[in-house]
Formats: sequence, C-alpha cells, structure tokens
Amino acid sequence: MRTPLPDYLTEVLEVCGTDSSGELAAYIPELASADPDRLALGLCTVDGTGYTVGDGAVRFSIQSISKPFAYALALADLGLDAVLEKVGVEPSGEAFNEMSLEEDSGRPLNPMINAGAITVHALVGMDRVRRGFAAFAGRELEVDEAVSSSELATADRNRAIAYMLRNHGIVEDDPQQVVAGYTEQCSLLVDVTDLAAMAATLANGGTQPVTGEEVVPRWVARQVLSVMATCGMYDAAGDWFTTVGIPAKSGVSGGLIGSLPGRAGLAVLSPRLDKHGNSVRGVQVFERLSADMGMHLM
Ligand code: DON
Repeated sequence: MRTPLPDYLTEVLEVCGTDSSGELAAYIPELASADPDRLALGLCTVDGTGYTVGDGAVRFSIQSISKPFAYALALADLGLDAVLEKVGVEPSGEAFNEMSLEEDSGRPLNPMINAGAITVHALVGMDRVRRGFAAFAGRELEVDEAVSSSELATADRNRAIAYMLRNHGIVEDDPQQVVAGYTEQCSLLVDVTDLAAMAATLANGGTQPVTGEEVVPRWVARQVLSVMATCGMYDAAGDWFTTVGIPAKSGVSGGLIGSLPGRAGLAVLSPRLDKHGNSVRGVQVFERLSADMGMHLM
C-alpha cells in the first residue's frame, strides 16, 4: 500500500462517514443519548503498534463486545469441558436476546447471545472480569454507572433469561445478582484503542501485544476466535463472514471489533445500528478494509 496507514485509515472513515442510516439502541435509555455521528477506528498489530483515527478519545460502554473476553476467562479458569457443559458453540441464527436454549440440556446455544453470556458471567464473576479485562486492554477499565443502572432498570428480558437458566440448572446463583453483574460487565468503559488492543490479544494467541502478558493460553484464543467467527454477528454472521471474513463481535453501543489471526486487532465505533444490532458504518468500514487489505481469511 502506497498511502501511509494512518492516512489510509482516515480516508476509509471519511468515505464511510457519510451514511446516516440506522438507529441508536433505544432499549437501554442511556445509550439513546449518545452522539450518533461519532466515528472512530483503532488498529493494533500483533507486534504492538497502534493507530487510532477519528473520534478516538470517545469512551463508550463495551456491551456485547465483552462477551468473547468473559468467555476467554471462563475457558482459561475452568477448562473447555466444564464450560461446554454449560454453554454450547452452535450459531443460533437468532437475535442476541432470544431465549435460545438447547431443548434437552437447557444449555444456551453459544456464549455470544445474551443467554450464553449471562451463563458465562455467572461462571467467572465481576472481580475476575475486571482483572481479566484490564489485562486484555493493558489498563484498568471503569464501569459507567449511569449506563449500568439505566440498563438494569429495563433488564426484564435478561432477568427472564437468567431465571430460565436457573430453572434448567445452568445457572446456580441468584438470577437477579447474576444479571446485575452481567450488566456491570457490559457497562465497562472503553475506547477504540482499548478494543483494538483487546482484539489484538486474541489475534496474537492470547498474549497482549503491548504489555507482553499472556492473558489467556493459545488454545483459549483459538476457541474464542472460532466462536466469534460463527456467532459473533448474531443472525448476520453468514453475511459478515462471506463479505468481511474475519472473527468479529459487535455491541449495541456501536462498537465492533475484528481479530485477524497473526496480524492485528481492529475496532470501530459508530453508534447507529442495523436491524441485527450491528453498527451500520462499522460494518461498512470493515467491508472496505477487508477488500483493500486482503483481510478475508479464505
Ligand atoms: O444484554 C444486553 O442486551 C446488552 N447489555 C448487550 C447487548 C449487545 O450489545 C448486543 N449487541 N449487539
């Protein structure tokens, strides 16, 4: 590529920045007040070089992008078999907040939908999430209390999911406490530089490229990237993988990460969402980067 990388990344944001379609997530009242025009892109290579362009200083709640990282911690702490007993690895083909449980076992189909992520949170707990996420990001993250309490006040669907999980013996703790913890996990504040470093840690086989810390073992990173590839974009996972072709995860505050194994982690912020709950311009930025930079894994 002839253009210097930061100039090229800025150009991509300019081209994709003109689209104002999509809607802010309204079911979490505090997210509905975000500035919809924010647009930022972060890239962190597996050798620890970082680039951030656009509104890189904006912090936002991590939301569902927390799910692969909490899953990684559960796998590292409890081992594959113990986690598979509670949460499967099959794409649900349904929305993120569906009550998708396997008929016989009552297991959530995968850890990227809310049912699976609530189960994973119950396995690891908020203290471990805080410590683990700090290691992934390379700095301590704080909870946005306004977002957390705003979501908790309207989290009846997640509470229903958690009660159903306890009914099936998948979650053993108090469903109210588990949802409160899961909601805090989703409310941790990040910027695209943090998310790019977190995604790069997975791309780098579990070792944080800037701090050099082995956050999770290589097999865990492989397991997480595989589940991101098949389930990370919910009911748009097939479209995503055929067009962009890298393991990814989206969140309702408009964040979107991608991990390109052995190469880099990328993160975009753009709050307007499509009907699947994925960032409209985030998807466009990734489509363009994938085409221009040959990121598609196939
Ligand atoms: O549990 C929820 O509904 C939110 N805390 C997270 C959902 C989310 O980010 C879905 N992603 N696009």
